[in-house]
This record gives sequence, structure tokens and C-alpha cells, in this order.
Amino acid sequence: MLQRTVIIDALKSTKLNQPINVKGWVRSKRGNKAISFIALNDGSTIKNIQIVVDHNTFSEEKLKPVTTGACISATGILVASQGSGQAVEIQLTELEVYGSADPEKYPLQKKGLSMEYLRTIAHLRPRTNTFGAVFRIRHNMAMAIHTYFHQHGYFYFHTPIITASDCEGAGQMFQVTTKNLYNLKKDDDGKIDYSDDFFGKQTSLTVSGQLEGELAAMALGKIYTFGPTFRAENSNTPRHLAEFWMIEPEVAFIQQKELMDLEEDFIKYCVKWALDNCMDDLQFLNQFVDKGLIERLQSVITTDFVRLTYTEGIEILQQAIKNGKKFEFPCAWGDDLSSEHERYLVEEHFKKPVIMTDYPKEIKAFYMKINEDNKTVQGTDVLFPQIGEIIGGSVREENLDKLQSEIQRRNIPDKDMWWYLDTRRFGAAPHAGFGLGFERLMLFVTGMQNIRDVIPFPRTPKTAEF
Ligand code: 4AD
Ligand code: MG
Repeated sequence: MLQRTVIIDALKSTKLNQPINVKGWVRSKRGNKAISFIALNDGSTIKNIQIVVDHNTFSEEKLKPVTTGACISATGILVASQGSGQAVEIQLTELEVYGSADPEKYPLQKKGLSMEYLRTIAHLRPRTNTFGAVFRIRHNMAMAIHTYFHQHGYFYFHTPIITASDCEGAGQMFQVTTKNLYNLKKDDDGKIDYSDDFFGKQTSLTVSGQLEGELAAMALGKIYTFGPTFRAENSNTPRHLAEFWMIEPEVAFIQQKELMDLEEDFIKYCVKWALDNCMDDLQFLNQFVDKGLIERLQSVITTDFVRLTYTEGIEILQQAIKNGKKFEFPCAWGDDLSSEHERYLVEEHFKKPVIMTDYPKEIKAFYMKINEDNKTVQGTDVLFPQIGEIIGGSVREENLDKLQSEIQRRNIPDKDMWWYLDTRRFGAAPHAGFGLGFERLMLFVTGMQNIRDVIPFPRTPKTAEF
């Protein structure tokens, strides 16, 4: 038996006029009475290999099960291609059909299917060119992230998925319980009694690994997490998922400037990785999904990100309103910026990524370092073209008294916080970190329009299929 060659290698092979075996899924079959051409893809590359079938050797009858979507093993002779479009092709000598795909029923028979329709067949969409490209790039971005941190001396630290604390304090958590929901025991105040629940207390899926990440940074110096994150925010937008992946580095002994440098360097590294390693897929996406994609990626890695404070940002937005710009949501000092504001700054005003800093403390989480004005905190978010917020980060408040009073002011139950506060009791250190939404990075790098189309099986309000 001839060993299988993956198509990405077969297409580059110089072993001409020798036998070769490839296996994969048929993308198309065309031809005439004398000859058929099969375009075969095995997922190793966006490119198909062409298999030429001489009907003197293989009757049309024998080729009947070889339809779009069928899986075959094809053995033949690798030859220089007669046609344009590919350097090599295979002249078929032996065919095995592993699995046919009824042309009447196979959903990917037609071309040009809408993204909305493809979401309903998320189990098959990785076989399309677009989703093959997206998922190969997704793998590459994960490798880029691990490589970046490993090379810079960070340790990959695993934080829990089930937790009893709400890091962001936004109350958007999915509960985890083994309790019988039909028969909930309640106390005299009508509150649910969790003492007999699996963990003996109320628990949820994590919204962020940051709190545990901070503990780790106070021991290992530089760490990062990279894991699934869950938010029960009922926002049906092209940028929100209920289950997404987040990368959260946390670093001891750095301040705001170094945090911003890290954010910028890290994103540029990931984007450059895509340009260096995923060009075939990017070219496809650039041609069929987003014509400005490659140019935008190239421009990001050579551009200095703008750094400005929230207060300066509000001034620019106010000026824009004076000049006639209309926004749906208000943006007075103190308001949370919405994505239209972020995108105005990034896409219209600066035409560059922006790192925005020093937000009003009321619109940010309890752990951010409070500035001397006692009004703003050292948040450092990165805002990106097409996306809006891609990174949320901050310097952390390391002072125990200030942190505790913030926790009290916000009515956060501090019995659940004792372990977090211990890092401020014992060997407290200045530190900072951020969270990058993996799928937001994927949106930017692929040019895809909807976050549901950059994760294999999206979870959003009312959808948990597959
Ligand atoms: O700004 P966020 O809420 O920050 C945190 O969770 C911090 N604990 C991170 C840290 O400092 N370690 O979320 C961080 C990023 C956002 O900038 C966004 O890219 C992404 O996570 N994100 C989402 N991505 C997809 N769907 C959602 N529902 C998201 N919510 C946040
Ligand atoms: Mg944020």
C-alpha cells in the first residue's frame, strides 16, 4: 500500500512521474466523454489537487459515486499539469470510494451559500473554502499566541472554568448546579439553599481567569491563560458570544506604559504570524470575503497605535457631534463608549488602532488601579478598526485599603474575595494585565463580519446546536 501524501505536500512535490496516493473530499467533478477532472481537497490547504481520469481506464459508471462531498482515496501518477492553474496533477490508476454523498441531499452541493445558512449546517461548513481557511487561521493564531508568550518567558497557567467569584462583577454568569430544579430548597427569606449543591455553594462558569491569573503572577512573575470564557449577556450582536476564548496575560512589576507596549507588540506579532504563515488562506479571504483585508493587516503591523485618554477621546467625539456627526448613543464624560464611538475614533478620526486609557471608575471593574484624581482608573483598552474593543486591560490596584473600599462600595461580597485580597496582604506588588478576545482577533485577521463565523460551534442566545 502506498502511503498517503497530504495534498499540501503533493502540490509542492517534485517527484514527478512516480506513483502517489492522496485522500480527501471531492469538491467538484467535471469533464467530457473521454476524460474527467476531479478537484480533491483534504483540508491541509485551501488548494485542491486535480485528478485526471481517463474513461478508457475508468468508465463513467465507475465514477458515478464520485460526486461533490464524497470521500475518496486516489492513487495515480504525479505529473506536470497540462492545464494552467496548477503545477502538478494526478493521473488516476486506482480509486477507492470511502463514502459517497447523495447529490440530491448533500447540502454543500451549491456554491455561494449564505453565511446564515451555513451556520445551520455548522457540522459541515468546515468543508467549504471559507471555513477551511478560517479554521486553519484559528489554529495558527493559537500557535502564535503560545509561541509569543513562551518566547517572552511567560508561563501558561490554567485557571478554573467553574468558579464562585464574578471577576467582572457584571452579573452575567451561567450557573453550575446539580440541584433538582423542580424541587429547590429555599430558606426562610426565600433564598435558594446551596449547602446541599455539588460544591456546597453557588457556582458559575467563569467570565475571566484574571483573578486567579493575578495570584499566579504574584508567584511566577509572568503568566498567561488561554481558555474558554462564558458570558450570559443577552446581546445578539456580530461581536458577542456566550462562549468565547480569552487570552489573559498578567505581569508583575509593570506599569501602564509597559502594559500598552505589551498589548501593541503582542497583537502585531499575531497579525504578522498570519501574514507569514497563512497567505494562501488570506488571499482567498481577501478575494472573496473582504477586499481590503491583506492591506489592513499589513498596515496594522507597521503603524504605531494611537494612545489617548478616555477624556481626550470624549473631547474628540463631542467635537465631531458639533461638526454634525450623528451617534445613536450619548457620549458625555462618564458614559461607556459604544462600538459606534470606538469605531468613529479608530476608523474615521485616527484611521489607526487606538489604546484608550484612564476611564471613569464607575464604568470599569473593581480591580483597576485608581488614579490620583480619584475619578479615573488605569484601564488600557485596545480599539481596532472593524471590531471596536479587541483588548480590555488595566493596571491592578495593589493597595489593600483602596481595593477593599472599592469592593465595599460596590457591595461585592468579600467573603468570596479573601484569597484574592491575600495577594495584597502578603508581598503585594505592582502588576498589570489584559484580556484579548480570541474571536475578536479572529474577526480582524480573517475579515469575517460575524463572530459566529470564526468559532466552529457558536453559542449565542437561543442557539446551542451541535
Ligand atoms: O473587557 P473584558 O470584559 O475584560 C476582562 O474580562 C478582564 N478580566 C481581562 C483582563 O484584564 N485580564 O473582556 C476582555 C476581552 C474584550 O476586550 C473582548 O475582546 C472579549 O474579551 N470579550 C468578548 N468576546 C466575545 N464575546 C463576548 N461576549 C465578549 N466579552 C468580552
Ligand atoms: Mg472590556
